[in-house]
Amino acid sequence: MNLQSLTRTTAFVVAASISTMAHAQEKTGHVSAPELRAKTDYCKTCHGVEAQGFRGSFPMPRLAGQQPEYVENQLKAFIEHRRRNPVMFNVAHALSPAMLAALTDEFKNLKPKPLGGAPKAIVPEGKKIYDEGIPGANVPPCASCHGPEAKGVGQFPRLAGQLNDYVIKKLTNWDKERGQNKANPDASAIMQPIAHDLTDAQIRAVAAYVSELN
Ligand code: HEC
Ligand code: HEC
Repeated sequence: MNLQSLTRTTAFVVAASISTMAHAQEKTGHVSAPELRAKTDYCKTCHGVEAQGFRGSFPMPRLAGQQPEYVENQLKAFIEHRRRNPVMFNVAHALSPAMLAALTDEFKNLKPKPLGGAPKAIVPEGKKIYDEGIPGANVPPCASCHGPEAKGVGQFPRLAGQLNDYVIKKLTNWDKERGQNKANPDASAIMQPIAHDLTDAQIRAVAAYVSELN
């Protein structure tokens, strides 16, 4: 990605995230505490008791500390079939807009320890990719969008503490899962060329690195 297209896409994300925030504010305040509690407990049956993620027959991603705008965007993407996942379509399409906004706030404030379990030997290589990118392959530093500590901001998700096997799956299958409505392109287009240009070994290394971060 060259600098011009990077600037353009960043401007798009900032503009889109401001409109999402305004949207979320309009919709809060219509969910009772017991309703929210019941729904959060339900999410945690798959995403882990502290939303730290869970390894079942496939990895369930960490939601703890995740950026509210990013979570809201993904739930909408599942509902509109822009992001393909049969499990989360069924979960997300039953959520009211007010519940959706309340849930995103709820998960933001949880701070469990990372689940861990990644191979330690490849962590240093992953850190180098995260901080510096891969200049020869046109891959920008991950830190330039996901932040120096991988905590994310707005539409850019937190990667710190995310399950390494989940991250590997997402980066490997990007084109098959996200941006599935070509007539309605979304923020997933920003990551598409980056996921595409990483080799399998580079994906494993960077996934190991972020999964260990607090
Ligand atoms: C039956 C299990 C299950 C339940 C219940 C469930 N999820 Fe999920 N969720 C998943 C799986 C599996 C994925 C990973 C999908 C993928 O691989 O793309 C996921 C992904 C997500 C993502 C995308 C995370 C990311 O990092 O991109 C969000 C957001 C999410 N779930 C929110 C919720 C919320 C909020 C609830 C409760 C209302 C919930 N989930 C309940 C299984 C579940
Ligand atoms: C130009 C900005 C930018 C750069 C650089 C960038 N990302 Fe992303 N990334 C994004 C955006 C935006 C999203 C959210 C996409 C969406 O909403 O579907 C994302 C999403 C992701 C996700 C999905 C997270 C989840 O919970 O499902 C992973 C994994 C990821 N990026 C890893 C990386 C890695 C590794 C690098 C460095 C090699 C990187 N990103 C560099 C913008 C960027």
